Amino acid sequence: MSEPAEGGHVEHTLDPDDWNELRALGHRMVDDILRDMRTLREQPVWRPVPQSARDHLRAEVPLEPEGATAAYEQFREHVAPYPRGNNHPRYWGWVNGTGLPLGALADLLASAMNPSVASFESAANLVEEQVLGWLKSMLGFPAAFSAVLTSGSSMSNIIALAVARDARADFDVRRHGLAGSNARLVLYGSLETHSSLQKAAELLGLGADALRLVPTDADFRVDVAQLERAIATDRSAGLRPFCVVGNVGTVNTGAVDDLHALANLCSRSELWLHLDGAFGALAWLCPEMRGVLGPLQRADSLAFDLHKWMYLPYDVGCVFVRDAAAHRATFAVTPSYLSASPAGGNGHATRFPDYGIELSRRFRALKVWMCLKEHGVRRFEDQVRQNIGQAHDLERAIRALPNLELAAPVALNIVCFRFVEAGLSPRALDECNLAIVARIQEGGRVFASHTRLHERVVIRVAVTNHRSQAEDFRLLVQEIERHGRELRAPAAQHNGAAPRDASGLT
Ligand SMILES: Cc1ncc(COP(=O)(O)O)c(C=O)c1O
Repeated sequence: MSEPAEGGHVEHTLDPDDWNELRALGHRMVDDILRDMRTLREQPVWRPVPQSARDHLRAEVPLEPEGATAAYEQFREHVAPYPRGNNHPRYWGWVNGTGLPLGALADLLASAMNPSVASFESAANLVEEQVLGWLKSMLGFPAAFSAVLTSGSSMSNIIALAVARDARADFDVRRHGLAGSNARLVLYGSLETHSSLQKAAELLGLGADALRLVPTDADFRVDVAQLERAIATDRSAGLRPFCVVGNVGTVNTGAVDDLHALANLCSRSELWLHLDGAFGALAWLCPEMRGVLGPLQRADSLAFDLHKWMYLPYDVGCVFVRDAAAHRATFAVTPSYLSASPAGGNGHATRFPDYGIELSRRFRALKVWMCLKEHGVRRFEDQVRQNIGQAHDLERAIRALPNLELAAPVALNIVCFRFVEAGLSPRALDECNLAIVARIQEGGRVFASHTRLHERVVIRVAVTNHRSQAEDFRLLVQEIERHGRELRAPAAQHNGAAPRDASGLT
């Protein structure tokens, strides 16, 4: 709306000229969002982005107004029909969450309130504080741990490692940087440790080589004896071990390291124990899984996500740190314009920027707060339990089929397996399994991804989906078998020679 100001010149705002028109558009958007979510089953899981949409999405920035309705219509035409697919009941790729409808609406409310959840008092800060308290109690952590919501476990891992580095270095890292070190700081994880830990080691100036990757046992859990030897070797070579990263659900297979052994080793060796529980930590909600997980609460820090196995819309993760003072000491900087004042809003207790990297922070906590109120912890517990049960049902189905072979134990919710066929070389089998994954993705009926275990390609199904039902997994198995059969048919015609067909198999 443009108004003549006192001096007669026109002053502008970006608010709508016609609020009623935007209101109608907003109602249409909400109707479309909810219809799309309700009818997910009738839509393909995934489809490639067509050339028309790609062209549209490469157009130059508009200089003149096109209007809100036009912007929304372009979204409906070129963006909305081509999602990643992770909201769909038959999507089990990587470790992606499935979203909650109220979570999406809560994000709308959070954006409308538009706070920066930093240090100034507002209800948003109190909501985040409350949510952090709830999360600690849900995962059995003492209230004294410090905590902050993050964009995800990559960010939580880097925050935790920064605190570990600064707390365990014998010099002032913040002041001198790593130039102050006379012994190289090193940390440990298994070969199955998530790539975000490597990124963290690089960004913290430690270097990727400082992250010592220790081999795993047959169940993809860190080999604790080898870990202990690696620490001793590094110490005797004059390096300074400071941290062990334990996996609570590896991204490849969902393996959980022996946390009792890691916690004992770390307390004996005075090392920081960081746990990457990106999705696996949420299994704590199910009391019967606590023996599988082990003592999460002995960690010095824990990273986990709510956008994975708590199904909330992206992005929201969290980090807990035992030593709240060390956490603050790593990140707190108070320039004069942000310093506390005796009255007004700047006396608020929690200064979230003192616990992480971001100063401006979005109101991530609202969707957590609303969805926990909507469903209560018990329903999340049931949902996680359902996913674990579905993963075990799938495991049993695979064991019963001669052409499918399990590739790793199912510890939590990830099932890795491969299509097998007598007479095919390991390389041909790899190509066959890659081709199966590509075909099912392109087919749009079910969605899995792949990984490599012991150098071999496997199909990987990660169940962090609250919409999946038994029939969906039956369809997945049927589709994999069907594509496998189609791909191996030419092999049979060639008397067991590697198949040659349109899939690109050689
Ligand atoms: C075990 C593990 N750690 C860390 C991450 C990184 O989490 P985010 O994608 O939330 O940054 C993932 C992501 O899949 C993961 O599975």
